Amino acid sequence: MERITGALAAVRNPRTGADVMAAEQVRDIATSVDGKVRLTLLLAPEDDATLVRDVRQAIERLEGVADVRVDVRDPAQSEPTPARRAPNPAMSQPMAPAAGGMGRALPVMEAAPQKAPPKVPEPVAYPHLGRVIAVSSGKGGVGKSTVAVNLAIALAKAGKRVGIMDADIYGPNLPLMLGVDAPPAVRDEKIIPLEAHGVKVISLGFLIEKEQPAIWRGPIVMKIITQFLRDVQWGELDYFLVDMPPGTGDAQLSLVQATPVHGAVIVTTPQQVAVGDALRGVKMFERTGVPVLGIVENMSWFENPETGKPIALFGSGGGERLATECGLPLLGQIPIDPRIQEGGDTGRPIVAAEPESRAAKAIEQVAQRVMERMAARQG
Ligand SMILES: Nc1ncnc2c1ncn2[C@@H]1O[C@H](COP(=O)(O)OP(=O)(O)OP(=O)(O)O)[C@@H](O)[C@H]1O
Ligand SMILES: [Mg+2]
Repeated sequence: MERITGALAAVRNPRTGADVMAAEQVRDIATSVDGKVRLTLLLAPEDDATLVRDVRQAIERLEGVADVRVDVRDPAQSEPTPARRAPNPAMSQPMAPAAGGMGRALPVMEAAPQKAPPKVPEPVAYPHLGRVIAVSSGKGGVGKSTVAVNLAIALAKAGKRVGIMDADIYGPNLPLMLGVDAPPAVRDEKIIPLEAHGVKVISLGFLIEKEQPAIWRGPIVMKIITQFLRDVQWGELDYFLVDMPPGTGDAQLSLVQATPVHGAVIVTTPQQVAVGDALRGVKMFERTGVPVLGIVENMSWFENPETGKPIALFGSGGGERLATECGLPLLGQIPIDPRIQEGGDTGRPIVAAEPESRAAKAIEQVAQRVMERMAARQG
């Protein structure tokens, strides 16, 4: 950690001349034992976007660092509140395919971030999407995308028409998890979603080059989310799942400003630190008027795939405590199963690939409860 802050102290903001640590532009530095580093960079609209690259490179140069992820946030939006502050970007153009139909279509990104907070966008309902459900957490890496993907497949297996959208524009991983990665076709100015395991899917991962750095700021998040809702040929759906990025930042706020969200599923791991973050996630949705459907506890215990024997982990029961504390149902507890990770890396989600496993059954139970909760709300 000291090496990281040391390296960051050497990165100067060309606009102010101050280093990014002294200027408190860096937040939420997180590291993992396998050398992954993740942080949030507060980038003002007048800051040079090359600062993102400089920060990334400074950390990449450190020994032992395998992977760096920089989430960019507009300092004006760093404390999300229900007082809706996101600028209203001009959102008139649908995504266009690249010239000649070759390469990948790029979202429209030329809108300059505006300085004065303009008027608040009104959420637009898209009835053909069915029930819009956000899968979120406070903390990164707890298994949101895993839960979202498998929940989508479980709902499809239950006969529902399901779409899933990747709102994690800085680290889209639905293409990998669902095993689809191709530039989607564009027809009549609408993007045709890809389909995998009976689920329609759209991700920024389909539309950008892999190595493109994450330099988008708040207004762009809103724009992309709106384009995914509006300009994709989803057809008639029963459920529309949104895989959120970690935290309670731009994407969460943008989604609730873009469209009415009918429910949120909050994913946590059993450990206290994840639970604290998840609680913030719950509060954020409640403040914005989105009903939280319940808590999913992921990585609840270790499941030996050979014997099926459960091995309890240190720090358990967090999901249950959180659910009780918030007066919310615990929708399910999913064990750690190495096949979840393998399946996630090879496009074979466990609900499709190992439907008899305890983890798949746990997720199908979550799907069942989500359907019950939604039916109760509708009726
Ligand atoms: N129950 C589980 N058992 C084993 N591996 C799991 C389980 N849940 C998730 N994983 C693995 O943990 C890693 C993180 O999961 P995932 O990407 O779903 O988390 P996330 O919350 O979406 O992360 P991010 O915050 O980066 O979006 C992945 O490699 C995934 O395969
Ligand atoms: Mg994810």
